[in-house]
Amino acid sequence: MIQAPVRTPGTPYHVAVIMDGNGRWARARHLPRTEGHRQGVNAARAVVRACASRGVKVLTLFAFSSENWRRPHQEVGTLMELFVRSIRRELPELEEKGIRLRFIGDREAFSQRLQARMAEAEQRTRDNTLMELVVAVSYGGRWDITRAAATLADQVRHGSMTPEQITPEALEEQLSTKGLPDPDLFIRTGGEKRVSNFLLWQLAYTELFFSDVLWPDFSEDDLVQAFDCFAGRQRRFGHIQEQLVGGSGA
Ligand code: FPP
Repeated sequence: MIQAPVRTPGTPYHVAVIMDGNGRWARARHLPRTEGHRQGVNAARAVVRACASRGVKVLTLFAFSSENWRRPHQEVGTLMELFVRSIRRELPELEEKGIRLRFIGDREAFSQRLQARMAEAEQRTRDNTLMELVVAVSYGGRWDITRAAATLADQVRHGSMTPEQITPEALEEQLSTKGLPDPDLFIRTGGEKRVSNFLLWQLAYTELFFSDVLWPDFSEDDLVQAFDCFAGRQRRFGHIQEQLVGGSGA
């Protein structure tokens, strides 16, 4: 396990990323879309390493949305294969670096083989503390909130809680991100400026950064640009500037 790096002031604690643009990257090179996803794995590896070495404590990557099942059968199949292979290949480095892996999303939608790989990877890295790598698979923000609401409704029905006890904190306890702080910085590559059903509840006060770079080309320099932009933002969480200690917050 490597020594935890010193966190520079202004470094986001939790970074959440929509890795968009793999298909367009491939099309521009007359390659199949799936080749874009393969290169996307390399970009993801570089960003995981860069975040870990810069002191980010939680990195959440949106790898597969609830809506991505609608893609052509062959593309979905390739992505599934990539997930299985990536877990197998990357696990030794994650273990060595001290990175904890956690999957969020409707994982029951995946094959038994993939579910078993995910569970094993989580188990093997559960004591790691350098950084938590959260991979969102078959994930949708609406799915997350709806499922949490249904759990609370069930608890009220069974008498273990009252409707008055339904608070934001109680709902958060039922989200798939339970125990994680909300993201400080959201990055979306590929030029689109939307949140696309990612962490809808959790992004309430997150700083948003959009990059035109296609995900397979996204480098450590691009990440640093996003961090620099984040460091210059003033986060007020509903307060006015004068109420903030030191005038600016991270
Ligand atoms: C969006 O690009 C990307 C995806 C739907 C898949 C993302 C997956 C990876 C980068 C690989 C796996 C990652 C891990 C963590 C193992 P797009 O296909 O929507 O691109 P387009 O908008 O150009 O069509």
